[in-house]
Amino acid sequence: MVRGNLPHKIKHFHEKYGDIVRVAPDELSFIRPDAWRDIYSKGREFVRPDEYKDQPPGKTAANLIACSETEHARLRKILAPGFSEKYAMEQEPFIQSYVDKLCEKLDDRLQNDKISTVDVVEWINYLAFDVIGDLTWGSSFGCLDGLTYHPWVQTVGQFKAAIVVGALKFYPPIYSFLMAITPPSALQAVMDMWKLTEQNVRERVAGGASRPDIVGTMMASESMTQEEMEVNSMMIVAAGSESITTVLTGVISHLLRTPDKLNTLVQILRTTFLSEQEITGSALKSLPYLDAVLNEGMRLCPTIPDGMRRNVPVGGATIAGQIIPGGMVVSIPPFTTYRASRNFTHAEEFAPERWLGEDVQSSKFQGDSKTAFNPFSLGAHNCPGQNLAWLELRIILVRLLWRYNLSIPPGVELPQWEDQGIWWFWDKQPTMVRFQKFR
Ligand code: HEM
Repeated sequence: MVRGNLPHKIKHFHEKYGDIVRVAPDELSFIRPDAWRDIYSKGREFVRPDEYKDQPPGKTAANLIACSETEHARLRKILAPGFSEKYAMEQEPFIQSYVDKLCEKLDDRLQNDKISTVDVVEWINYLAFDVIGDLTWGSSFGCLDGLTYHPWVQTVGQFKAAIVVGALKFYPPIYSFLMAITPPSALQAVMDMWKLTEQNVRERVAGGASRPDIVGTMMASESMTQEEMEVNSMMIVAAGSESITTVLTGVISHLLRTPDKLNTLVQILRTTFLSEQEITGSALKSLPYLDAVLNEGMRLCPTIPDGMRRNVPVGGATIAGQIIPGGMVVSIPPFTTYRASRNFTHAEEFAPERWLGEDVQSSKFQGDSKTAFNPFSLGAHNCPGQNLAWLELRIILVRLLWRYNLSIPPGVELPQWEDQGIWWFWDKQPTMVRFQKFR
């Protein structure tokens, strides 16, 4: 975990040993599609192991990742209206306005030949953080304004440090000792991040429920404490930004390597939409090739590539036809499962057409096990942000591809996606892309 190559190793073990691998004395990894249902969809029987529950320093309020199942059910019920499809659609004007800003900034950069080269990882991260800050507590981080990361964003992105702390939890005496001797100054950036979170939530609460956002949903329940609103909104900002950047940079990077797929998508978009104003959330729902491209991006670049670990309940359970004793840790590792040849034909290939379902009988992808793919997970702990995620992914990708011709700058080699390190999330390397104004 600490070296950032655990998911790669687990992939290698599955290739060598098969569908079910004992990756630690008390831990099993599964890549069979039926394991999804058995592990993640059995009500609340399988719970996240304590080592993977992250309680922010100095905070005790229940948050979605680190709380009891009863608290989790309460929080999900409160938050549900804020994650509905209707609510997501109400957020569209805000999303569109941030994409406008991104395009303005890109246009400013265009030189005489109308070409600009930028690192899409950075720029889409600016956009994703600004959007989710606004959608969560009504104020953005201003990353796009200054084309730079806000310190809050920099701190929340310190996954490598967080992984080291997480790994130490496997050695409780060492963990307690190191936590006891860590000087407060070492945690200064984290403390500053929490101060700003407190301030943003406090200001939003004082401002009243004037517009649709997630803190507004929390306030409407009248049953969440200030600290609960802080820890959960912080988590939503973190979960709702990094994921969007991963999928979009992953998709752009794969499209650039497969120009025929890029051309197919661009042709569809430019013949469907005659002006940029026609690109709306509802119009984008009926473009199967667009969704196929995004699904294929999520298959090859899953936002959570490592297994989402769960404890088998006391008394044991049957998983993928095997009887597993209680207390074992089990998971499905998306990076491995989605690239396994037992589940997908030409598994390492970027092939959006596998999701189109047309002419399935003659398709070379008819053997694919689509049920092996659950990008938003399943069950009580699945992703609540799916509606918002689809809306953001479609609007951002389509507006960029409609407005600009994207290409790999001469002499540049894009990073190979699967070779990047993984510290919970992909350690996305700079990805330089050339933008040329289409119209
Ligand atoms: C492409 C975009 C996204 C993907 C693929 C994705 C995927 C996932 C997955 C697989 C989980 C389950 C994690 C686990 O069980 O450990 C999850 C959880 C979560 N996601 Fe997303 N996500 C995306 C976007 C978003 C967005 C936009 C938001 C917020 C607006 C969001 C908020 C959350 C939250 C709060 C959780 C924790 C849920 C819980 O534990 O109850 N996600 N996401």
